[in-house]
Amino acid sequence: DKGGHRHFMAKEIHEQPATAAAAVAQYVSPGRDRVLSPAASLDWAGLERVTLVACGTAFYACQVAKWWFETVARLPAEIDVASEFRYREPPLPARGAAVFVSQSGETADTLAALRYARSQNQTILTAVNVETSSMAREADVVLPLYAGPEIGVASTKAFTGQLIALAATAILAARARGAVDAAEEARLVSALCAAPAALADAISREADAARVAAEIARARDVLYLGRGPMHALAMEGALKLKELTYIHAEGYPAGELKHGPIALVDERTPVIVLAPTGPLSEKTLSNMHEVMARKGRVALISDAAGCAAAGEGVWRMLEAPAADPFIAPIVYAAPVQLLAYHAAVARGTDVDQPRNLAKSVTVE
Ligand code: M6R
Repeated sequence: DKGGHRHFMAKEIHEQPATAAAAVAQYVSPGRDRVLSPAASLDWAGLERVTLVACGTAFYACQVAKWWFETVARLPAEIDVASEFRYREPPLPARGAAVFVSQSGETADTLAALRYARSQNQTILTAVNVETSSMAREADVVLPLYAGPEIGVASTKAFTGQLIALAATAILAARARGAVDAAEEARLVSALCAAPAALADAISREADAARVAAEIARARDVLYLGRGPMHALAMEGALKLKELTYIHAEGYPAGELKHGPIALVDERTPVIVLAPTGPLSEKTLSNMHEVMARKGRVALISDAAGCAAAGEGVWRMLEAPAADPFIAPIVYAAPVQLLAYHAAVARGTDVDQPRNLAKSVTVE
């Protein structure tokens, strides 16, 4: 049942304010000033570092989580895609902890990576949507996503669920490590509590995204740029676009532009810049101007202040709601999903079942 939507993906994008609220309700105290997490029993203060492993979109959730663990909890975090991690058999810290992130809980490489970490005496956590899955069964600690069944091959509401579970866990680690006091924890928790409404606001701007998407649908190549957690969202946006539209798309850290990718920029290449107002936005906007100086067609996704700061000459602006930088990665999932979705609709591709892809990759 697509709930009145044309595709499961559209339904699942629109479910996010509700699924995110369901997740927040589980990961936040009734007084909305502390996080609650099944991971509270871990010795976060004693950890040397945390390892996060996944595939595809779930890996980009790990990339955002690395940012949160390192900047908020001051806990070093290593991330890897499961197919690389499992065969590298990396040395892991004694009494370390490893987090496996997955919608299905059945992805073959991620499950094999989990088993490797188990063999190395790591405490195993999994942020997983299917609570009866292999990963949930084999983990010491399950961080559920509360997203409900996800049918579309493109992961949407599971991704925002992963981000919420991981954000709450990073706040928990920050408290345990003394990296935040009660007031700062309450501030972060209140930012997290604002995420569902901010997602609803971002999704309500769908018509703007659809207009830009119709133009992007005609491109041969598309670049996505962002810094910090927005680099992860740039990677996620590019993955979504390529899997749904078969347009060649790449995500880059905005600061890497001059080290090669800027050679790709010409007047035919849309460059999607993710720059919510925050400590890195000025740097990203300056990279954006470098693209514009090479006649790149920039589509800027930012809040009202960021769009105002961008100045003249930006090809298209997609305004997103203003959000605390801590939750911007959750909020900006919506515009990148909507861009890919509407570009696919414009091209007439099979949105829910793109060619060559399976919902769950249970063979390596
Ligand atoms: O079920 P999982 O989350 O472990 O799946 C991981 C990837 O296969 C998945 O995220 C894939 O990249 C999606 N098609 C992305 O939209």
